[in-house]
Amino acid sequence: MQNINSLVGLDQGQKYSKMKSCAPPAAYHGFHHIEMRVCNSYQAAMYFSTFMGMDVIAYKGLETGSKDYSSYVLRGGDFFLILTSPLNSNEKKVNAYLKKHGDSIYDVAFLVDDAKAIYQHAVENGAKTVSRPEVMKDSEGEVVIATVSAFGSVVHTFVENKNYNGVFLPGYSTEHILESRLHTVLPDTSLGHIDHIVANQGPGLLKTTTDFYIQCLGFHPYWSIDDDLLQTGNTGLRSMVVADYDETIKIPVNEPSENFKGVSQTQEFVDFHGLGGVQHVAICNNNLEVTVRAFRDRGGHVLPVPENYYDDLDIALEKCQLKLTVSVETMKELDMVVDFDENGYILQIFTRPLQSRPTSFFELMQRNNHDGFGAGNFKSLFSAIEKQQEARGTLFRK
Ligand SMILES: [Fe+2]
Repeated sequence: MQNINSLVGLDQGQKYSKMKSCAPPAAYHGFHHIEMRVCNSYQAAMYFSTFMGMDVIAYKGLETGSKDYSSYVLRGGDFFLILTSPLNSNEKKVNAYLKKHGDSIYDVAFLVDDAKAIYQHAVENGAKTVSRPEVMKDSEGEVVIATVSAFGSVVHTFVENKNYNGVFLPGYSTEHILESRLHTVLPDTSLGHIDHIVANQGPGLLKTTTDFYIQCLGFHPYWSIDDDLLQTGNTGLRSMVVADYDETIKIPVNEPSENFKGVSQTQEFVDFHGLGGVQHVAICNNNLEVTVRAFRDRGGHVLPVPENYYDDLDIALEKCQLKLTVSVETMKELDMVVDFDENGYILQIFTRPLQSRPTSFFELMQRNNHDGFGAGNFKSLFSAIEKQQEARGTLFRK
């Protein structure tokens, strides 16, 4: 297996200069929405509304003239989530997708300046078309959208907002929305914006995936880490983060290491998802404690952190002369972890998988002058995930 540093020729853990990349034909402005394909969009909407505290804001279905699909659109802080289900067994595409992958993230959409230019650059450099640039309009204005395949069954939609003033996108109605009454009485989760999404790929696919982002979408390497650091002794993985030119979008791409006796969490994901896919969506805000307390009070489940993680954490923080917005005691109570250096820190928690298959989950995080991805926590978190794998009987091949 190739060492990741030989793929990029730089030291792992180093942040790469964006000077290494060419500016794309038009600017990206971060994540616009995530679309999940689910078996029951109504029930999924109630889950994300009640547990995650997201507002149901738009709908498409039989009542709006959509005969084959039912979609609920939810807003959480500064991002949108679409939940789409097929309405009958004659529909082929989404039914086949769900049979293979189960409920999971299908589309990671970006807000861009010029959807047509970005689409053209992508296909000229080898990206596969899912849908050509199309103007969509209604009484609220118009947008241009185009979609290309990314990795596994995941696609990227480019959304160019010309002058659209509606709540989401043309074609969705603000009528027929069903609110969870519980959502309105439970504490506010104050979700923020999408910080990054993580791509899990099978063995040997890290380079082809990062090459796609670099060559087709005009991204550049941002950071990387190899399996000599990203391991627990039982399992390991490699990761390279790619980012758009202005670094408004960051996508860590993982592949499992086969140098260990156990099954990497990345491989477990691929086994249950049936292919590479989106492992997690990280949502960042300025007050993680409020968000986590609200999420827990709403009934949400988080990944338990090993108790010994908190041993001596106070001393290590003191050495760096860092004062966090939460005490170590609170972190322990909430299963929150921290990664830090002398300049700043990130706080993180991870939800349990959002569906029966041990595949996608959410990360909730807070950044304080720190642009890493929690490398200092990888070992403890991977040990925590391994405990779950052990319970599932997936840590070692039988
Ligand atoms: Fe993350």
